[in-house]
Amino acid sequence: MYLKHLSLTNFRNFARLDIDVPRRAVVLVGSNAQGKTSLLEAIYFLAAFTSFQTHTDRQLVNFAVAHENPAVARIVAEYERGHKKHRLEVRIIIEAVGPLGQRARKEVLLDGVKRSANEVIGQFNAALFIPQMAQVLEGAPEDRRRYLNLVLAQVIPGYAKALSDYQQALTQRNALLKQLAERGGDPNQLDYWDQSLAQVGAQLIFWRIQSIQELERLAARSHLHLTRGKEVLRLAYDPAYDPLPRPAGQFALRLDVPLDRSALDLDAITRGLTAALKKLRPEEVNRGVTTIGPHRDDLRFLSNGVDLGDFGSRGQVRTTLLALKLAEVEWMKARTGEWPVILLDEVMAELDAERRADLMEALAGSEQSLLTTTDSRLFPAEFLAASSLWRVQAGNILPPESLSAE
Ligand SMILES: Nc1ncnc2c1ncn2[C@@H]1O[C@H](COP(=O)(O)OP(=O)(O)OP(=O)(O)O)[C@@H](O)[C@H]1O
Ligand SMILES: [Mg+2]
Repeated sequence: MYLKHLSLTNFRNFARLDIDVPRRAVVLVGSNAQGKTSLLEAIYFLAAFTSFQTHTDRQLVNFAVAHENPAVARIVAEYERGHKKHRLEVRIIIEAVGPLGQRARKEVLLDGVKRSANEVIGQFNAALFIPQMAQVLEGAPEDRRRYLNLVLAQVIPGYAKALSDYQQALTQRNALLKQLAERGGDPNQLDYWDQSLAQVGAQLIFWRIQSIQELERLAARSHLHLTRGKEVLRLAYDPAYDPLPRPAGQFALRLDVPLDRSALDLDAITRGLTAALKKLRPEEVNRGVTTIGPHRDDLRFLSNGVDLGDFGSRGQVRTTLLALKLAEVEWMKARTGEWPVILLDEVMAELDAERRADLMEALAGSEQSLLTTTDSRLFPAEFLAASSLWRVQAGNILPPESLSAE
């Protein structure tokens, strides 16, 4: 799939933008603070309905209109997917509530019809590569779960909905656990929430098992190529509730030993999670919080058996990230039958010459990519010759003629 036309209204520093996007690589060149990252952020928002830079949607609305009520930022995309044209519109609306309060909400329209973000996610696919993504390897489990959720939600129908149902059940169950811990009461009140949590939680675990295994296969292959056969990458799913029975007497499973959970079916996982919740009930009532389930899952990256989150060198982390990103693109393509739009923010400066060449080669085979840079000389001449060059300046995109002076 690819983006044909993008319009922005009051999104970050773009007061108004209306531009046709070519079906190939587009290099966005500009000095600092001109709007390069903001443009990628807008496109990614169409795929994830969240920003990769902020959790606060309010920040996305142009300062100049922030005092208006309502203040609205708008992203409109015309894109082509499977030879069909679609129009996707997202409105980020900030409204006053009461004399002092404010509320941010989103409206999503697909082909003119208002829909929920959970329904529309997956219609417009994008893969994002930004240097901050080293957090996926080096950061907290929460960073990895967020990453995984954003990728899976775009590919697996129903994933986003299941995730929000799970969050809702978890919030309710935790509230009840807290109440039981503080004021006592009948623990059997938990039965209902155990059941909803286990049902949707098992579904998430099931999807994660399958997806991580598929991603691992692709990432290991790219990684082997990127390290010229020197390193073997493993993606190890580390679920807080592990449906795989443990060998007697063994408490923790070693991450460097590959485990195949793919034969487990959904029913078995649901039954297992239900039983585990039951068993943990007295302890959870004591602590007032749910201690197992997909909200505590982790994902680890190992190279030649060594955990890169703890022991990876900068170069190893970057190479692994690149392998992961290439795998993600391939996986999305394999699962959906469509190329995602590939978004890369300042990635060239982070890579050595060999890895740059590998990346350029991978991008050359894709349908559409947008790459930002402050310095177009980082790109090989052949790549630039086959790309469109846009100059981003103060929330505008200048026509290509303005580049002839470069
Ligand atoms: N809500 C907003 N309204 C108006 N301007 C904003 C808003 N949010 C951010 N900006 C400004 O938009 C400008 C562009 O930011 P952006 O991160 O897109 O720049 P960039 O071209 O990627 O720069 P760099 O090369 O430094 O990464 C910045 O000056 C930023 O302060
Ligand atoms: Mg930037």
